[in-house]
Amino acid sequence: MSAHGDPIPMISRPCGALSGVAEVPGDKSISHRSLILGAMAVGETRITGLLEGQDVLDTARAMRSFGAEVTDHGGGDWSVHGVGVGGFAEPDHVIDCGNSGTGVRLIMGAMATSPITATFTGDASLNGRPMARVTDPLALFGARSVGRAGGRLPMTIVGAADPVPVRYEVPVPSAQVKSAVLLAGLNAPGQTMVIEKEATRDHTERMLAGFGADITVEDTDEGRVITLTGQPELKPQVIAVPRDPSSAAFPVCAALIVPGSDVLVPGIGLNPTRAGLFTTLQEMGADLTFENMREEGGEPVADLRARYSPDMKGIEVPPERAASMIDEYPVLSVVAANATGDTVMRGVKELRVKESDRIDAMATGLRANGVTVEDGPDWWTVTGMGAGQVPGGAVCASHLDHRIAMSFLILGMAAKAPVSVDDGGPIATSFPIFEPLMAGLGADLERT
Ligand code: S3P
Repeated sequence: MSAHGDPIPMISRPCGALSGVAEVPGDKSISHRSLILGAMAVGETRITGLLEGQDVLDTARAMRSFGAEVTDHGGGDWSVHGVGVGGFAEPDHVIDCGNSGTGVRLIMGAMATSPITATFTGDASLNGRPMARVTDPLALFGARSVGRAGGRLPMTIVGAADPVPVRYEVPVPSAQVKSAVLLAGLNAPGQTMVIEKEATRDHTERMLAGFGADITVEDTDEGRVITLTGQPELKPQVIAVPRDPSSAAFPVCAALIVPGSDVLVPGIGLNPTRAGLFTTLQEMGADLTFENMREEGGEPVADLRARYSPDMKGIEVPPERAASMIDEYPVLSVVAANATGDTVMRGVKELRVKESDRIDAMATGLRANGVTVEDGPDWWTVTGMGAGQVPGGAVCASHLDHRIAMSFLILGMAAKAPVSVDDGGPIATSFPIFEPLMAGLGADLERT
C-alpha cells in the first residue's frame, strides 16, 4: 500500500539521453523546520519554496492542531502565525504524521516541554520505527510517554509542566534526535546542551539562530557541543527554502548513468552536512560541475550540472561521511551498479531504521535485477557491472519508502530491461513532481 491510498505500480524503461533543467522541490528538512519554528515564533513567518510533499503537509496540519495559523498562499508560498515558545495548545485529536519520521520526532520535541498531552500516529512504516531515541531524552526534561512495545507509535506524550534543561549526548548520529532535544530545550529555563560525536545536518541550529535564539556551536574533542538558552522570544522570519539536494540526487544520478545525458539542477542547497553524495560521486569519476555558488537564507546554494559518466569506478565510501549523505545511499547503490569494481559502504547501520530497512530493500531489489550485493549489519557492498550492463527486468518492492521507489525507477532508465516498482505512491511524500520532472528530461516512466 502507498502511504495514503492504493498502491501505484510503476515501470521505468531504458531511455535516451536525459537533458534539460530539473527544478526539484524545496528541501524537506528545512520545510519541516520552517513550519515548526514558525509556529513557535510570535507573529507571522513567511515561507517561499516550501516542499508541498505529503510529509510536510502532515506537519503543517499538525502545527494547526497545536494552535498555529498556517496558510497556503499557493505556489509554495506559505505563512505561519506562531503562538510563541510554550504557547502550544493541546490538540483535540490524534496527530497523524503519515510517513514522516522527521515530522513526528521534531514535533514531539517541540511539544514535550509544554503542559499538554498529544497522541501521535503514522502509516505502517512510521509505526514500525523506533521512537525511544527521542522519548528517552525528552524524559530528562520531565516529559512522559506511553507507546506500543519497543517504543513504537501510536504513542502519547505528556509534556513536562515544569521542564528542566538537560545535557544530552546523542547516542546515534541523528539530526532528528538532536533537533527534538533542541526544540524541547526552547521551553526549558536555563541552558540545554546537546553533544553529537558525528556532525549531522545542522539546519535546526542555523534556523534557531536566524529566529533569534541564543545558540552556540563549538567543535571540541568530545564532538560538536550545542548550547541553547531556553525561553527566548523567537522572531518571525522570511524564509526562502532552497531546493532539496536529496531530491536533486535522483535526476543527477540518472544523468550520470544514462548515455548522452546533460542535466542542470539549479539552486540546490549544498550545506556541507548534506553534500556527501556529490563528493562521493566525484571520487568515483562523475562529471559534476558546481556553478554560481552563492548563499541564500543562511544556506550555501549552487547550480549543479551532471553529465553522462561512463567510466565511474567503485570506491570505499568513508564511514565518517555517512551522516552527510545518509538519505542518498539507495541511489548511490544504483550508480555503483553502473560503475566498475566494488563500492563499499560502511558505518551505515542507521539505514536499517529509515522509512524501510534500506540496505535490505536495495540489496533484494538489486539482486533481483542481476546485481551482486553483499551486506552485513552496518555495511554493504555493490559490485559494479559497468556502464549500462545491469540486466534489469525485475519488479521491486518499495516498502512504503519514497527513496527506494525512486532509486529503482532510476535503475530502470539505464538497465538492459525495464525495472518496475510495486508502489510508487510514497514518492509523493518528498518529491511529488518526480514523474513529470523526470519525463520532461526524457525518462520513460509509466503507471501500470
Ligand atoms: C532528517 C534527518 C535524517 C534523515 C531524514 C531527515 C532531518 O534522519 O534521514 O530524512 O530532517 O533531521 P536521522 O535523524 O534519523 O538520521
